[in-house]
Amino acid sequence: MCGIVGYIGESPAAPILLDGLSKLEYRGYDSAGIAVYDGEKIQVQKAIGRLKVLSELTHDGAKMPGAAGIGHTRWATHGAPTNNNAHPHFNGDESIAVVHNGIIENYQKLKKYLEGKGYQFVSDTDTEVVAHLLDYYYKGDPIETITKVMHRVEGSYALGIMFKAHPGILYAVRKDSPLIVGHGKDGNLIASDVPAVLKYTRNVYFIQNEEIAVLSEEAISFFNVDGEEIIKEPSTIDWDINAAEKGGYEHFMLKEMYEQPQTVRDTLNPRIKEGAIVIEELGMSDEEIRGIGRIHIVACGSAYHTGVTAKYVFEGMARIPVDVDLASEFRYRNPILADNDLVIIISQSGETADSLAALREAKNRGVKTLGIVNVVGSSIAREADKVMYTWAGPEIAVATTKAYSAQLIAEYLLAIKFAQVRGEITEQDVRAYLKDLQKLPEQIEMLLGNKGKIQHFANRYISAKDVFFVGRGLDHAISMEGSLKLKEISYIHSEAYAAGELKHGTISLIEEGTLVAAVLTQEELYKKTISNIVELTSRGAFVLAVTNTGNTEIEKAADYVIYIPQTNRWFTNSLAIIPLQLFSYYVSVGKGCDVDKPRNLAKSVTVE
Ligand code: G6P
Repeated sequence: MCGIVGYIGESPAAPILLDGLSKLEYRGYDSAGIAVYDGEKIQVQKAIGRLKVLSELTHDGAKMPGAAGIGHTRWATHGAPTNNNAHPHFNGDESIAVVHNGIIENYQKLKKYLEGKGYQFVSDTDTEVVAHLLDYYYKGDPIETITKVMHRVEGSYALGIMFKAHPGILYAVRKDSPLIVGHGKDGNLIASDVPAVLKYTRNVYFIQNEEIAVLSEEAISFFNVDGEEIIKEPSTIDWDINAAEKGGYEHFMLKEMYEQPQTVRDTLNPRIKEGAIVIEELGMSDEEIRGIGRIHIVACGSAYHTGVTAKYVFEGMARIPVDVDLASEFRYRNPILADNDLVIIISQSGETADSLAALREAKNRGVKTLGIVNVVGSSIAREADKVMYTWAGPEIAVATTKAYSAQLIAEYLLAIKFAQVRGEITEQDVRAYLKDLQKLPEQIEMLLGNKGKIQHFANRYISAKDVFFVGRGLDHAISMEGSLKLKEISYIHSEAYAAGELKHGTISLIEEGTLVAAVLTQEELYKKTISNIVELTSRGAFVLAVTNTGNTEIEKAADYVIYIPQTNRWFTNSLAIIPLQLFSYYVSVGKGCDVDKPRNLAKSVTVE
């Protein structure tokens, strides 16, 4: 997501900030800004678009003299990519400047509180509450102020902070968003990631959750959330820049898979308030939700697959009929839409041409539209009547992983909300569902930790010609995504089939040794799918089964079993996808394919 750089030392700060930010470009951004203390005041310059624009505006930093500063590249989450929303953000009298990476989950509550105290906000961001909250608590001691703020804010944050009253010092603090400190020869630095500081130093400190770093030109010290000093040991970086950009991961796809636990938290947690689901951006009254006649989910690629999952969940849980359409089909098939229908367009980029055309088609027909979108301010986000952001952060690998997982979470939240409002489930059910959803990040982490076993298995299949993915119900939905992942990045032909449909044709393709990945997470369908597995193995198929922990019966039928932790039956796709993503990834790596940029594919398909 966003990138942070800070510098304090002997040299002019602005060129170092601009250079550091350029090393964080891979994180994705749509605006940038720097703040430099010029001896009298903190000067700020911001620009929408590429860093080049900011460099030009500041004459490569020369127009902003001063040896202490903070910089930021913003990947919009709360509020469109505008100058006002770009960081750094100030308190009212511009004596405190802040850059932030992460999401302040309770910012609306804090904003109301601060507005009640007379604070005026100039942006739509969650970050601005931090600047005003620092001001609110500031009584002369920055560390005490920062610890008070840490007690009030919920969510994730990496913050770089400057106080005009303490011009020779930079402050930094983090929780669940990355931040490092670099110990340079002629000054010290903070940054979201190592590449930003490598030109100046290889000695870095990794700030841990809820630790505060205090940097002056000569010294670096650390404090805990109680304001007590702590001692930290520096590490020496011996990686090269390319590896560092991927945070030590070999590919962006692997890095993004590993970001999924955080992505799930970021999409989920801000929408849970005191045990209830609050989706403010939905802007629908309970009466409107009760009045929905039919939901039409429209999307492309993996986003479409999350729509297939959502159909099962909306219909099963909320008892609302759902049509799922590929956007390229929907736009030309003259769909039947009623006034009280809801059209949900799902898109990571928010720019997919067919999805955008489908949205416009629905709007022309006067039907209410909701976008589930990752990129803030994108075309679909702007044009849909309402937008629910997934907050997965920028995705660089062409094959989507973390945006897919975030879309599932957004859809579950909507389904639970609709089911409750329509009286299909009780408050107690909601609490139970939320408890299961909140366990998902840890469960995903656990599955990712199992990668060695999957890598070993994948290496055996790098020369496979055809792979089939089968399952029933929700397991069919996840099979579709598993199959797409494999073919996208490994160029192995693969197909997803509803397990019960195999006998109607596809089973004729099964030969000795054909790999079939079978997903069995739905209890009421286990036995049925096991029968299908037996039909397959008796014709020579080698079956890899993905099933719930405890379902050991499967070991008699399948050749290789991967267990996923127990969760509610509606949410199993969020777990079952992890081994399937890892499998595709390792087959692709094993074959020597270009994992992050597979041939013939584009991340964002802006043509029909
Ligand atoms: C392309 C990407 C897929 C993605 C699809 C839809 O095909 O390669 O990963 O699922 O577009 O993209 P969207 O940005 O609308 O989610």
